[in-house]
Formats: sequence, structure tokens, C-alpha cells
Amino acid sequence: MDSNELRRIYLKFFKEKNHEIIPSASIMPENDPTVLFTTAGMHPLQIFLMGQPHPAGNRLANCQKCIRTIDIDEVGDANHLTFFEMLGNWSLGDYFKEEAISMSWEFLTDARWLGLDPEKISVTVFAGDDEVPRDEESAESWHRMGIPNERIYYLGRSDNWWGPAGDTGPCGPDTEMFYDTGKDPCSETCSPGCNCGKYFEIWNDVFMSYNKKSDGTYEKLRQHNVDTGMGIERTVAVLNGMETVYEIDTIAPLVEKVVKLAQIKDQPNEEQTRAIRIIVDHIKAATFILGDDKQLRPSNLGQGYVLRRLIRRIIRQANLLNIKQRFLPELSQTVIDLYREIYPELARNNNFILENLSQEEQKFSAALRRGIRKFNQILKEKNIITGKDAFLLFTSFGFPLEITTELAAEKNIVIDIEAFKEEFEHHRNLSRKATAGTFQSGLADHSEKTTRLHTATHLLQQALRDVLGDHVEQRGSNITPERTRFDFSHSRNLSAEEIKNVEDIVNQKIQEALPVRKEILTPQEAQKQGALGFFEERYEGKVSVYSVGSFSKEICTGPHVKNTHDIGRFKIQKQRNIGSGLIRIRATVE
Ligand code: SER
Repeated sequence: MDSNELRRIYLKFFKEKNHEIIPSASIMPENDPTVLFTTAGMHPLQIFLMGQPHPAGNRLANCQKCIRTIDIDEVGDANHLTFFEMLGNWSLGDYFKEEAISMSWEFLTDARWLGLDPEKISVTVFAGDDEVPRDEESAESWHRMGIPNERIYYLGRSDNWWGPAGDTGPCGPDTEMFYDTGKDPCSETCSPGCNCGKYFEIWNDVFMSYNKKSDGTYEKLRQHNVDTGMGIERTVAVLNGMETVYEIDTIAPLVEKVVKLAQIKDQPNEEQTRAIRIIVDHIKAATFILGDDKQLRPSNLGQGYVLRRLIRRIIRQANLLNIKQRFLPELSQTVIDLYREIYPELARNNNFILENLSQEEQKFSAALRRGIRKFNQILKEKNIITGKDAFLLFTSFGFPLEITTELAAEKNIVIDIEAFKEEFEHHRNLSRKATAGTFQSGLADHSEKTTRLHTATHLLQQALRDVLGDHVEQRGSNITPERTRFDFSHSRNLSAEEIKNVEDIVNQKIQEALPVRKEILTPQEAQKQGALGFFEERYEGKVSVYSVGSFSKEICTGPHVKNTHDIGRFKIQKQRNIGSGLIRIRATVE
């Protein structure tokens, strides 16, 4: 049975049981600022579990796309994933324990549905504690289904209590269903809940009858709810007797592609297997985040930053596998094609997904190559990587701290983060001081030529960040009708190749004839949207923000051209290292 079939029959079963099938919600929660991504099917339903009537009724079921980053460091083993699909059914104040358990049992064991051998199923129920009593009711229901007492296990809060999804909200005791894979037990105490692989959790029925309040205490909810969750990937693996989720239909084709890209001929070794799995899991997560109709891009904030880190980890792992070519858009297209029927938003946002992956890949691959070379060189010379070295890698090579930390950890070196931060602040202050006078200078006049150069300067800053890294920040600019002069934070001269890359990106954006748009925002809104600007300076009231297509966004007073095709051809004429960690570029347009 593959994922499509499991999804289909699950929803069919619950439709027959009078459930309304609702669509998957966005992967980014609408009403819960405490969590970045939708982590379970119940997550978008929280207000209805709290008592508000749901327009589709009080029996619901669906398949929800989910992201959980909490176990991101475990990805690479047999079964951890950050992206997964969760099947679920809900009772909003309708049926409770007995009916939920009997439906779960029927779906698992009846030959019309999954037809699993009842002998191989064991369950866990909540053992009770000071606040909430032992869940005898569920245990009795399981007993009535035919599960003997030896296969009903009582566990505590860490195993048999679920929720809330965020800091507060609906939660309750749960009962989990496990399938015995037939493996030998790992020890005498091996039982459901043990991670050795003998017992595979396939379904969780939560009896959501409590609300966790902000002071940490629990109160009874007005209504008794049921929230169940069955992870598609794990269940398909179990149903097919597979050892890992990486063998199932929505994952194996991706594994195959990566193996081919890495030109691995024999069985991948342990390190390669881990890298392949991280790449495959993360490309799915990144594709689904970019494929959401919210059109979130990689950035340095919140969800955008998680997205950026996922993509960077893929590239880093690909580097370990010696994959030389760019491959993200191609691999992502396979994800889109696997899921386009079920999640049409992926097809709708196909170009957006590929474009962003390709840009981010281009940006980061170059930085990674340069950074690793420098990292190894420092290590060879000094046998250690200090916080100061990590800062050098960041500011001169655009090498993010998290990657330096990861590389160092592989060599059993711990990076002194505090020293890194001190260095960062010290240099920032120095370069600010060095250019304090040139900030205001800006434009010599508002002539047509100066305006064209001004918009080109915005493109230049973003192109520099793309090529060199996010440490690049404007420290001063001076624009006359003849040329733009742009000072920015970076501590070494650019190579000929880097100059060419920057010019190419700017000219590419000019050719794309991107519209230039002005918006009036509060400084907070501007910052949240990732606009570039000096946020340490205090802006009074609102600010104007200029966007060039979706390529660049800066706080600025203008004026600018209306469309980048008005700029003409862009050329860098000169560069100079002016000290204090600053580079000055002079450029022209023709
Ligand atoms: N919310 C529960 C879980 O995620 C059941 O759906 O396991």
C-alpha cells in the first residue's frame, strides 16, 4: 500500500463514519504566534477544540502537511523527518473514548481497510498522576476490542499526554497504537515506547478535554474532544514491512536521485546514508514551505530563517557527498511532481519554489566552498578555531556561524560564541565610526542619470549580499550623474570572478525589467519584511520602503526609476579596500 492509497482509504473510512473531509491548512499557522509551523492536524483546529463551532460540523477528518523542527538533529536516522503528512479525525464535542477507539480498531484490523493482524497490535494508555487520573476507560475499551491486558501498557505524561501545540491550549491524555515488527526485543524491558524498532507507533488518539493555561495549570474544557494523528510515512513503512521511512513511495525516488547525483555505486556507507537522508527530508520541507500560497522567502527572520537553514544544510550535506553540480531545483521538481495532485498549491507556486531555491543555492554554494577552504587552512595552521576565526569566516567569506559550528563539531571543537559576538560588535562600531560622515551624503542631484544610478545602487547592494554573504551592509553611498560610490562592510577585495558575478546579477535584474515599488511602513513592519536599512538609528514615524521586484527591499527616500529597464548597462569600474573592514566600489551605467 502506498501513500496515495492510505490517504484515500483513510478519508473514505471516516467519510463513511459521517466525518466531513476538510482540506489541509497552510503549513504556516494563522492564529498561533507561538509556533512557526503547523506541527499537527489539530493545530489549525485549536479554537474549535476550545468550543467555537466549526462550519463543517463536529466530525472532521483530513490529511495535513506538517513540519516539526524540534528533532531536526535526529534527521538522518531511520525514521525522523521534519516534513510529514498526518492523517487525522476529530470529534468536536461529539464522540469520545469508546467510539474513537472502536473506529481506530476497525480501520486497523478490518480486512476492508488495513487488515492488520490484531495479535501484532499493542497499545499504551495514560498511567495517571497527581492532576489527572489513570485512563481506565480507554484501557477497558481496548479490552473490549479484544486486546489482552498483557498488550495494554500504562505510561506517564512524557509518553501518553499530548499537547498543547504551542504554549497554551487544548491537550489531554492519549492512547497510542503500536505495531510489532517481529524483531527480537532489545532487552527484557523492551515494550511500546522503546525506540529500538521492534514496536512502531502508528496512531495516536488524544482525548482533548483539558486546556493548559498560561500559568501552567490545567482546566477542564467545556467539551470532550477527540484528536487523532496517523503519520503517513511511518504507517506506509510498517504496512510494507520496511525498515525505514526512506523506502516509501514519496521518499524513495528522491533518495535514488541523490544517490545518482553523488555517483554512489555500491551501498552507501553510514555517513553517506545520513547525508542523503538529510538532503531528502530537507528538500521536501523547503519545497513545502516555499510552495505555500503565503510565498515566504528565505530570510534572516523566523520562518524564513528556518527555510534558509534547511537549504544551507542541504548544500552542506551535498558537499560532503561530493556533489559538484547545482541540483536543488531539479530535486525539488521531483517533490512537486510527487505531490501536485494532493497539494495543488505546489503546482501553483512551481516557479516561485524553483527560483528561490536556485538563487539561494547559487548564493550559498560559492560561500561554502570558499569558507571550507579557509576553515581547513586555519585548522591546519592553529589546530583550533576560535570565536575570532569564526568571525573572520563570517565577515570575509560569508560563512554563517551555524555552519562553522557544525564543521567544528565534526572535529570535536566547540566554538566560543560569546567571543564571536564581541568581535562582531567591535567591528560594527569601528566601521560605523569610519563612515559616520558619509551616511547623509546620498545623491548629488535628482537628475535622470543620478536616479538611474541610485536604483542601480540598490541592485548592487543586494547582488553583493547574494555573492558575498549577508554580512554585507551599506556604510555609505555617494551618487553623482557620473558614477555611484558605494561603501560596504567586507574585509577583503573581491576576486575578478566575484566582480563579474555581481555585475551579471545586476544586469540580469535590469534585463528582467522589474517594477520599482514604494510603500510607506512603520519601521517595525519594514524590518519584519526584511527591508535593508539602519535599524539602530531611530526612525521617527513611518518610513518609505522601495522594492525592486522581489529582488531588493530597502528603506530609502528615493527618487528611483519606475522600472529597472530604464537603468541601462551596469559596470563596476573600480574597487578599493579603504580599511576598517570596508570596501569601496565605483560603478557606472551607460
Ligand atoms: N495531535 C496528536 C499528534 O500529533 C494527534 O493528532 O500526535
